[in-house]
Amino acid sequence: MTFVLTEQHLAVQEAAREFAQKELKPGVIERDRDMKFPKEQVRMMGELGFLGMMVSPEYGGGGMDTLSYVLAMEEISKVDASCAVIMSVNNSLVCWGIETYGTEAQKRKYLPKLATGEWIGSFCLSEPEAGSDATSQRTTAVDMGDYYLLNGTKNWITNGSSSSVHLVMAQTNKEAGHRGINCLIVETSWDGVVIGGKEDKLGIRASDTHTIMYNDVRVPKENRIGADGFGFKFAMKTLSGGRIGIAAQALGIAGGAYELAVAYAKEREAFGKPIAQHQAIAFKIADMATDIEAAKLLVYRAAQLKDAHQDYEAAAAMAKLFASETAMKHTVEAVQIHGGYGYVKEYHVERLMRDAKITQIYEGTSEVQRIVISRKVLNGELYVKG
Ligand code: CAA
Repeated sequence: MTFVLTEQHLAVQEAAREFAQKELKPGVIERDRDMKFPKEQVRMMGELGFLGMMVSPEYGGGGMDTLSYVLAMEEISKVDASCAVIMSVNNSLVCWGIETYGTEAQKRKYLPKLATGEWIGSFCLSEPEAGSDATSQRTTAVDMGDYYLLNGTKNWITNGSSSSVHLVMAQTNKEAGHRGINCLIVETSWDGVVIGGKEDKLGIRASDTHTIMYNDVRVPKENRIGADGFGFKFAMKTLSGGRIGIAAQALGIAGGAYELAVAYAKEREAFGKPIAQHQAIAFKIADMATDIEAAKLLVYRAAQLKDAHQDYEAAAAMAKLFASETAMKHTVEAVQIHGGYGYVKEYHVERLMRDAKITQIYEGTSEVQRIVISRKVLNGELYVKG
């Protein structure tokens, strides 16, 4: 399998890199320190088309492929992983979910605003007692005839206080188990939507993560996505694509730390020569380069499979698993290469190390990715010839 980046791919990559360096880098340390949502930067991302990259132009998006989106995610994550997760949730969970499974009326109503950043969206699956075990939804959507009455609590919601639209998974028919779950499009301005506390996080601190309460929210029937009971499958299918975005985020975090570490190692001298000339450092750089290249191949492959409309579920899980482990391992090494300087905020690598951790947790922990991959293998759908 080869990865030939077209001129358009290279142009997207360059535009994202330039935007990240010029507009995201200044202030990234302060936004992280103060947990300040990057409102102005998100506005610019919307204007430049980064928030609805894969949405069809018919609905106000860029009409690009998944590989273009991955390249942009990677460059933005090298500099500001908080902006990257805002972008990722909006693109691959909210916009993609509505465009792929929504009705024409839902697409026309929501996508033009979401694709341009006038609104941003949240994906509301996790609950206090339903994290990895996502079928255990306690939020209820009671069928009231022409509307659903929504009640419950969601947590770990990215874009929690800044989004205008939520895709909320809720149980309509308890007896039917996961086949009784629906996904509802909820506008945050509606009565009964309560934005709860903001989390004080280890990393991606500029993105706002909240608990959300739904108290007797009336959701019109026409805001259900897909057939009655399709909500859990909707969440799983959407998350498979979302995992490619998070894999790209992890790849970018690893790449950002690697670029900083290489530059520092070539500049910093010890024992009479640049530290890059010492094998202890050069070998670390070699391992970083190798793992990042391997992660890149997995992430780009998953994107290409999705673009080719082939089964990408396991490929996405593998990409996320490997890229997030790579990000964690090598951001730690980047700090080590920087020595004491790596431990202070000014040099950026300590933030990248903190940001890396979440990529092993959200949109399915590393353990969840292993469940997805191993089931495919054991069902004979992957590597059956061994
Ligand atoms: N596509 C279509 N259907 C799928 C599917 C997929 N990718 N994966 C599962 N399903 C279907 C199954 O076929 C099954 O349906 P049937 O019974 O009709 O055949 C149904 O869904 C249940 O599947 P499982 O029996 O496999 O479910 P499970 O309880 O064993 O759980 C799991 C599987 C992989 C662990 C899943 O629960 C999971 O992915 N959990 C993690 C959830 C997660 O990623 N949460 C992240 C929250 S969102 C977030 O982080 C966003 C953010 O803000 C950053």
